[in-house]
Amino acid sequence: MTTVIDVEDVSKQFKIHHERNQSLKERLLHPKAGSTELFNALKDISFSVSSDETVGILGHNGSGKSTLLKCICGVLQPTSGQIRLRGNLAALLELGAGFQTELSGRDNVYLYGAMLGLSKRSVDAIFDDIVAFSEIEHFIDTQVKFYSSGMYVRLAFAVAVNVDPDILVVDEVLAVGDERFQAKCVDRIRTFQEEGRSILLVTHQADQVRALCDRAIVLDGGLMIANGPVQESLRIFREHLLEDAVEHDRAGHQAEVAIDSVTTPSGSFDVRSGASIHFDVHISSHTAYSGNFVMELFTRSGMLVSRSDAQGSPVNLKPGANQVGVDLPNLPLLDGVYDVNVGVVDYHGTVIAWKEQAASIQVTYAGREGGIVELGASIQQL
Ligand SMILES: Nc1ncnc2c1ncn2[C@@H]1O[C@H](COP(=O)(O)OP(=O)(O)O)[C@@H](O)[C@H]1O
Ligand SMILES: [Mg+2]
Repeated sequence: MTTVIDVEDVSKQFKIHHERNQSLKERLLHPKAGSTELFNALKDISFSVSSDETVGILGHNGSGKSTLLKCICGVLQPTSGQIRLRGNLAALLELGAGFQTELSGRDNVYLYGAMLGLSKRSVDAIFDDIVAFSEIEHFIDTQVKFYSSGMYVRLAFAVAVNVDPDILVVDEVLAVGDERFQAKCVDRIRTFQEEGRSILLVTHQADQVRALCDRAIVLDGGLMIANGPVQESLRIFREHLLEDAVEHDRAGHQAEVAIDSVTTPSGSFDVRSGASIHFDVHISSHTAYSGNFVMELFTRSGMLVSRSDAQGSPVNLKPGANQVGVDLPNLPLLDGVYDVNVGVVDYHGTVIAWKEQAASIQVTYAGREGGIVELGASIQQL
């Protein structure tokens, strides 16, 4: 067994700029006033990963997991310390990192391939496998900005596992997408393991760590507080970070935050065009958690009708059961079935919990307008 990732005394500091409360006049006179503080996101982290090993990384939000992976992938430069890699690496970083949203899925596959040092011809050779794995062939020429989070992850995962990397780095994205696709990703990860590749996996799902990892590292406030057998690390993770949750999760088979179901007061998701519909999203959380709620609406043919503002709907979840109400007033949609995806994201936009097709709204429209949206156009000859 050879060492493929060697992280030695790595620290990462971010500069955070605080603006003091200033009047407009003060601001004009002293535009640079305010203070800069150094924030230690990673403190003296050392560990290594051998070929053949799958290592899980656990930790609360903000503990430094993504920062560590970004340093390993070269997206961020450590402030001090060293990282040595042997072999080539493919990474699935936080959602939003990696793809150019103005470009089509196809262009992004080639761009990502080029970033990993593959020639156009090498990408040509694996392109069909990538698209087949992603199952989004109909949308491969659509701009990525119209993808659902699930579609986005499908394509990113398909690329990462098809470029033949020695090391695969996955940051939380397995939480996105439907269960069938997640299972397919997990299968592919298992194949990778059989082929003797190394994997670094950040996940909120304890059962995934248990099922896939040989070892787990726990981060807490930028410090590594455990690096050992999965059971041991999971115990430390719980004891340190999920004290409130131990009661709820003795078996440890649940994620920290999960979308349980979407319901309506009447039990029906049928609505007349122009009427309003209210539904409740039931979310369970093991700890108190603050993030943002996101909802997407898709047509059956997979076209994004609307995605809510991921920064605009804060939710403060308490340990246990939570409910988020969604009101869609005067639904301006025409006849059809519309699938609803819902999720919770953290303040970086990273998905914490997600459910694709959490509900389907059936809209009936009595008028003669065609398409998906009721414009209510008034047309007069002048
Ligand atoms: N570019 C940045 N500038 C300033 N602070 C950052 C930056 N990126 C991350 N941080 C901070 O570093 C800490 C660790 O973040 P992150 O690695 O994303 O945590 P995790 O992935 O474990 O949730 C957080 O407190 C976060 O606010
Ligand atoms: Mg993260």
